[in-house]
Amino acid sequence: MPRIGKIGILTSGGDCAGLNAVLRAVVLRAAQAGGVEVVGISQGTAGLLARPVEAAPLDPTMFTGTLLRSGGTILGTTNRGDPFAYPMAGGQRIDRSQEVIEGYRSLGLDALIGVGGDGSLAILRRLAQQGGMNFVGIPKTIDNDLGHTEVSIGYATALGVATDGLDHLQATAASHSRVMVMEVMGRDAGHIALNAGIAGGADVILIPEIPYAIDRVAAKIEDLKSEGRNFALVIVAEAVKTEAGEAVTQSQAGGAMTYGGIGYFIAKRISEATGAETRVTVLGHLQRGGTPTARDRLMASIFGVHAVELILRGAFDRMVAWSGRNVIDVPLADAIAEFRAVDPAGPMVRTARGLGICLGDA
Ligand code: F6P
Repeated sequence: MPRIGKIGILTSGGDCAGLNAVLRAVVLRAAQAGGVEVVGISQGTAGLLARPVEAAPLDPTMFTGTLLRSGGTILGTTNRGDPFAYPMAGGQRIDRSQEVIEGYRSLGLDALIGVGGDGSLAILRRLAQQGGMNFVGIPKTIDNDLGHTEVSIGYATALGVATDGLDHLQATAASHSRVMVMEVMGRDAGHIALNAGIAGGADVILIPEIPYAIDRVAAKIEDLKSEGRNFALVIVAEAVKTEAGEAVTQSQAGGAMTYGGIGYFIAKRISEATGAETRVTVLGHLQRGGTPTARDRLMASIFGVHAVELILRGAFDRMVAWSGRNVIDVPLADAIAEFRAVDPAGPMVRTARGLGICLGDA
């Protein structure tokens, strides 16, 4: 078992609420273990590519104040710049993984903790294998689409924001007799839309896992009208496609594509089919920021402490996870291999159906 004196930590992929709480848990637990030092690496693997390497010690005294409660990540993060296919100015992509590994080695670390979603954890695992790094992963993603863990950091806060969004829209929808369409994130999984839709009293929930027909959505809105209801709440996951099967995307700087805009398509189609007045809210990055909920702070604390304990025990190439009301750890390879979308036959879909919510079934 290697002697552990210095642990590196980085946050990678899209940010979310609860990342600073993870850093706090790691630093506090490491300090308890005979003063193990923690080094925070800036901007995910980009900090290890920079020369000089961008990293600085994280001290327990930094975490006595607001950080447990704050969104974002004090280390910074990126969801671009895969070091195995690093985008260069001329548009070509090159393998810079060896530079990242050299950067890691220059810090004299005994182990590395990476806080990321499936994409980041897969890259970090590959780096760890190539560079012989002692690596442990902590799952975070508002999309909640990682396998082998019931919870990923950031999801609870995003779900809360989306539920609040419906709470806010309900009042204005009722005041103006409108159909409100709210688009939420989640990448290729509909967890945020489905769960917020149930918690926030949506009448229609559209998720990528269940194909929809606009006629079914329109029929639901007509039914509500005939029952005397003057408004409707529709929540749409960003990866829902048009009726022609096209994803609605936005191109970003550097050639990246992100989902965004399907809410406008759905609202227009509802308006055409029912004559209803519609309005659209794209909740966007509000779901990633904000104050972490108690649940996210708890999971961040539990995962951070467990990750350090794994390292102290010499258990590497694992991801911490939450399962059956307990913290566990699983082989990293298994965790990143399983994408967990909404199960169309699962309890949340059954609940939505049991509440009479329209899922748009084609
Ligand atoms: O994976 C997290 C996530 O917020 C997705 O839900 C969303 O599709 C994407 O990241 C947005 O990425 P960006 O921050 O690059 O706009």
